Amino acid sequence: MTFTFVTLFSNLVEGYFNDSILKRAMEKNLFSVKYLNPREFSLNKHSKVDDTAVGGGAGMVMNPQPLFDALDSLRKEDENVHIIFLTPVAKPFVQNDAKRLSSKSHIAFVSGRYEGIDERVIEKYADEVFSIGDYILTGGELASLVICDAVSRNIDGVLGNSDSLTIESFESALLEAPSFSKPKLYEGLNVPSEYLKGNHSKIRSLKIALSECKTKFFRPDELKKHCQGVK
Ligand code: ADE
Repeated sequence: MTFTFVTLFSNLVEGYFNDSILKRAMEKNLFSVKYLNPREFSLNKHSKVDDTAVGGGAGMVMNPQPLFDALDSLRKEDENVHIIFLTPVAKPFVQNDAKRLSSKSHIAFVSGRYEGIDERVIEKYADEVFSIGDYILTGGELASLVICDAVSRNIDGVLGNSDSLTIESFESALLEAPSFSKPKLYEGLNVPSEYLKGNHSKIRSLKIALSECKTKFFRPDELKKHCQGVK
């Protein structure tokens, strides 16, 4: 699997792959990361990549030309590349998308800066468009990293223990039950006694009850889906 970050600011992205699980996964060749800077494709004599909005409005919009040429070169290199744009004007990214996208051979994330990207670029090149939540970031780089992280941990071999994928929040409608590590008693605070007794069916029942409590409190919308058997 290859991830290509199409961004004016690859420095914002690179550091994330320099440590921990994703660094190890890259060392095992489970995926690789590339960068493509639209500025390198700009035909403007000052390598400009943005301009004021046609029809008025605040802020600068990324011009079509550098992005058209950058994405044409990407598609020419790999016709199977799956191109994703990050923008708050899109459907929300969810766990099912992370699982589905983990079987692609090549994903490119196109990040806008400034007020956004000329809509014609999205119309022409987007296979999918995602938002990571109802708030506005200064650019798409963080959003592309969020999606890349969520997708890559679903690639076979990236996580040491594949069990950790099946019992997570959002794999069912319920949020995950709380976890505890050692010691069993810390500063007067105990791990729930049922967790200590080793009766696995009782532990499972308790975890389901705790999951339901957490979901009812934090995500009543998801609990409703769970009760209706949607997930
Ligand atoms: N770019 C700016 N804000 C964003 C968001 N919420 N999701 C995806 N891309 C963005």
